[in-house]
Amino acid sequence: MLDVLGVRDVIETRGLTKRYRGGQLAVDRLDLSVPAGSVFGFLGPNGSGKTTTIRMLMGLIEPTAGSASLLGRPMPRAARAVLPQVGALIEGPALYGYLSGRENLVRYDSADPTADPRTRRARVTEALDRVGLTAAAGKKAKAYSLGMKQRLGLASALLRPRRLLVLDEPTNGLDPQGMREIRTLIRELAADGTTVFLSSHLLDEIEQVCTHAAVMAQGRLITQGPVAELAAGTRGRLAVTTPDPGEAARVLKELGVTDVVVAEDRVSGELPTGGAEPVDPADLNAALVRAGVRVRAFGQERASLEDAFVALTGEGFDVAG
Ligand SMILES: Nc1ncnc2c1ncn2[C@@H]1O[C@H](COP(=O)(O)OP(=O)(O)OP(=O)(O)O)[C@@H](O)[C@H]1O
Ligand SMILES: [Mg+2]
Repeated sequence: MLDVLGVRDVIETRGLTKRYRGGQLAVDRLDLSVPAGSVFGFLGPNGSGKTTTIRMLMGLIEPTAGSASLLGRPMPRAARAVLPQVGALIEGPALYGYLSGRENLVRYDSADPTADPRTRRARVTEALDRVGLTAAAGKKAKAYSLGMKQRLGLASALLRPRRLLVLDEPTNGLDPQGMREIRTLIRELAADGTTVFLSSHLLDEIEQVCTHAAVMAQGRLITQGPVAELAAGTRGRLAVTTPDPGEAARVLKELGVTDVVVAEDRVSGELPTGGAEPVDPADLNAALVRAGVRVRAFGQERASLEDAFVALTGEGFDVAG
């Protein structure tokens, strides 16, 4: 799919690297391709380099090496031409605490030389409404909760139509209802043709809203692609429902199934790997039946992005130092 202006990858990085002055290698030779029209999840545990990457994309910090382009234009060189078409929410939006939410947005909008002052009020009202801040619009920003500040930051990114939204942990600080609202909003924006790039350390959030994802660990890209393909590369656990769980567990172990877990009438485990021939689950089912195990249900659980992450990195989804 092409962007309205014919750009295929709205974000592209080649060998993008950031080493902070203290010596910390935060992003290590990143090659990222974000297709136009995608809702792209940038996934990684705390400290994996997401915010650092986003800061480089937006021209806020200089890469140590490598290059980045936004909407087909090199950053930071083309920042002045590109950034008006990109809405961004980056960790801790800068707000004037003594101004109300509405007044903060009016300020943001006034700072944009291409924004028509005559339609400012309407734009601000619309943006407040989209993020569910209408009722709290008159309250001073310093009295906002974390989630309200996050919504206000998002509203500032939505003041005008954008080709690309770059959102760093957009649901950070939101309650479950707020998270759902933001996810719905992201889907609506995507349906309007905006490419949305969002970072998150929440796997299920990415699975719920994203079409594509990239997985980061310790500054390095582990994998990227359509979400369905990332999870499909990983096999889900085998699950058997049976009134004979003990016998089923014994037979499955004998056939090479590992990590067998029995929970009441449900037996699950990892399909055997490593043999020359991949094991056909149908053969396992047949073997259970031959052994006299009464099988009520037999199947493979859908692999989650979390399974994929663990399979790819060999680790849990934890913070690396
Ligand atoms: N200004 C800085 N100076 C030195 N090191 C930094 C700086 N900012 C971040 N780092 C380090 O770079 C690494 C990546 O940090 P970054 O903020 O990009 O991670 P992140 O993926 O956004 O994490 P989180 O999920 O917690 O927001 C971390 O080890 C962090 O300590
Ligand atoms: Mg971050």
